[in-house]
Parts: sequence; structure tokens; C-alpha cells
Amino acid sequence: MYTLKDNNVQRSQWGSKIGFILAAGGSAVGLGNIWRFPYLAGENGGGAFVLIYLITVAIIGFTLMLAEFTIGRYSQSNAVGAFKNIDKRFGFIGFIGVIVAFLIMGFYMIVGGWSLAYIFKAITGTISTTDPNFLSSSFNELVVNDFQPIFWGGIYIILNIFIVSSGINKGIEKASKILMPALFVIMIILTFKSLSLEGAMEGVKFFIKPNFSEITPKVVLNAAGQAFFSLSLGMTCMVTYGSYLNKSENLVKNAMIVPLLDTLVAIMAGFVILPAVFAFGFTPEEGPSLAFVTIPAVFTTMGTNLGTIFSTLFFILLTIAAITSSISLLEIPVAYLIEQRKWTRRKAVIITSIIVFVMCIFSSLSKGSLSHVMIGGKSIFDLYGFLTSNILQPFGGLMVCLFLGWILGKKKALNEATNEGTVKFRLANLWIFLLKYIIPVLIFLIFLSGLGVFNI
Ligand code: PFF
Repeated sequence: MYTLKDNNVQRSQWGSKIGFILAAGGSAVGLGNIWRFPYLAGENGGGAFVLIYLITVAIIGFTLMLAEFTIGRYSQSNAVGAFKNIDKRFGFIGFIGVIVAFLIMGFYMIVGGWSLAYIFKAITGTISTTDPNFLSSSFNELVVNDFQPIFWGGIYIILNIFIVSSGINKGIEKASKILMPALFVIMIILTFKSLSLEGAMEGVKFFIKPNFSEITPKVVLNAAGQAFFSLSLGMTCMVTYGSYLNKSENLVKNAMIVPLLDTLVAIMAGFVILPAVFAFGFTPEEGPSLAFVTIPAVFTTMGTNLGTIFSTLFFILLTIAAITSSISLLEIPVAYLIEQRKWTRRKAVIITSIIVFVMCIFSSLSKGSLSHVMIGGKSIFDLYGFLTSNILQPFGGLMVCLFLGWILGKKKALNEATNEGTVKFRLANLWIFLLKYIIPVLIFLIFLSGLGVFNI
């Protein structure tokens, strides 16, 4: 279905309800849940991190998600246009979103490439072992290599180009519809397998039992940042996706389902990976390699053949989960370039991807030949991640809250969110109150805490 906008650019819309949930859920569920969440939990004290993460998701998950959907559908425009159409002075919020999308893609595509490379490692049986030393060194060999991750990252980017150039319905929606449910099923199998390992309970305890003395400002900042990252919030991704929603869609319901789905997958990933860490003798602080070293070990316990099949299937699905997220990242600048700059979709996708590829070369090399280059004590790879999830996304989230609460205003916002009052939304007043006052203050406090203001 198509609508014609004032600027004469034909905009597509999601073809079905389930298509949108799977696409927005596909954006949220990705490497952030399966690769990033468990290793950040491992590095930040386990249960303490998970607790702050869940609190942040509970507060911002629904409220901010609904705010972004509302702004997107109200303005029916891309990241920048969405804000600009409502108030000319605020296009910059969307512009920050476009920059953040580039920065995230600058490392996300490389991790997607690692995942692709692991499909082949799994097929050939080179990682069917439970030996932690072997698995760790096999991962390290890949990521410090100057050529391989860039090669795989390049292939991964090409896959993204294909999907995003096909546009919203044919590309993004169709891909998500098939891929997301498959991922879900394999995660359930993995969770059971991992929990039945000998010694698994120690990992479960580490993951769910918060040690309150571990809640430091750094843990708070990392956990809150991860919540923004995992939910794809604070960078107008959900504004862009919301802009393709038709006017009869129930935004309130969608804004509840997507964070729930996302959190479920993150928690499942924690239950897969952390028990395996303890069962096989890895260390929780292992870092970005954690998922890549523990998961093959879990599969190996199923026996060589079954292990190889499942492990291959898993990395295929991880790659797919990554793709349904990275296509949403790519769509942010692409929609902006098509609508604001009047580029063709093809040109926008290709030029954006070339810039992303160059950024990826640097982030990948920062694990190898450029590992001596440190900016503010961080490698380029870590810097992209830190700047986006811990600083720019919460800042974007703060702007979205204030924009909806104070600029778009209660009346218009509620009108849009409830389809002119036809959708029941009992917490409407609370939603506006949280957006106008509470969440901005909380985000501000998180920043102060991140800057070390509360360090004693
Ligand atoms: N939410 C994705 C993940 O958890 O992997 C990452 C992401 C996608 C972040 C899209 C931001 C975004 F706009």
C-alpha cells in the first residue's frame, strides 16, 4: 500500500501487523541481545548489571518506544524530516540519529562478519570442542587478523545492501517474517541444553543474583546504555520504522510487544551463555569473544554430528538476527537521503554502505594492526560502542522525551498514539508525565553518574 506525501516521495507502508512487529522486533533483537548483553553482564558483575538493565528497560522500554512510534507515524517522515516537520528547530535530533547509525554500523557490520565466518568454522567442524583455550585462541586468530574480518564484514555489508535496496515490503519485512521465529526456536533449544550442563547453576546464580555492592556508576551507565542499544532507542530508528506504519495500527500494543520480545531473547541468551561459562571453565570477563567461544562448546556436548548441525544453524540464525538489526540501522540514513536529499534508494544504499565499510576497516584493524591507537583509553572499536550506547543514544532518548512532551504536546501525541481516541490507553497520562519529567531527570542522573559525579 502506498501513500503520497507532500514532497511527492512515495512512501511504502508495512504490509501487515505481524510484519511490523517482526521488523521492529527484528531491529531490537540482534547481536545486542545474544553477543553484547551476556558479555557486558559478565564484565559488569552479573546480577547487578542485569538488575539495572531490567529497571532501565521497564522505565524506558515502553515509554520511549511508544514515543518514537508516535513521532514517526505522526509525521510520516524519515529521522530528520520527522522532527523538522513538527518544529523546524528540531531536525538536529534526527540528524544525531543518522550519525549514531553510522557509528554503530562501524562496528556492528564487523561483528556480523565474525558471525558469518563462524558459520564456516562450524560447518567444517573446526570449533567442535569444549576446550576453552582452543576456542578462545581460534576466536582471537580471526579478530586480530588484518584481512579476514574485513573480508567477512564486506560480505555481510553486501547482504544488507541487497535487502535494503529492495525497500521496505519486499526486503525488510519479508526477511524478518521468516528469520525471527526460527531464531526463537533455536534459542529455546539452546537454553535447555545449557541449563542441563554440569555446573550450570553457578552461572545461573551469577546471572540472576544481584550483588548490590557491585552496583557502581560504571555498571549503571553500561547497563542503561545497553538497554538503549538493545531496544534500538534514542536514535530515531523506531521513528523511521514507525513512519511506515499505517494509521489503523495499534501503537500502544506494539510498543509493549517489542520490548518484551527483546528482553526475553536477552535473558534467554544470558541463560545459554553464562551457565556454559562456568560449566566449561571460561571466565565471565572474557569480553566480546564470550558468545563465540561458549556456544560452540555447548553444542559440542551434543555429539560431533548433531553439534556440527546445530552449531552451524545457530550461527546462521545469529547472522540473520544481526541482519534484521543492521538493515534497520542502514534504513535510517537511507530514508533520510531519499526523502530530504532526493537521492534514489539505490544510490543512498550504496554510498552509505561504502562509508560504513571504511569505518569498519578502522574498527576491525583496531583489534589487530591498529591496536596501539587509543582514543580516550579506548580502541576505535570500543569507542564507537561506548559513544553510541552510553552517550549519544541516552542523549537522543532525552531529546525524544522532551520533544514529545513539550513540543508535539500532550494533545497531539495522545491523539496519534491512540488512533484519535479509538485505542484504549489507560496509562496515557502517566505516559506523558514520565516523558515530560521523570525520564529526562533519570537520563540526566545516569549521565552524571557516568561522569563520576557520584563517586565517593
Ligand atoms: N538493537 C540492536 C541489537 O540489539 O543488536 C542494535 C541496534 C539496531 C541499535 C538498530 C540501534 C538501532 F537503531
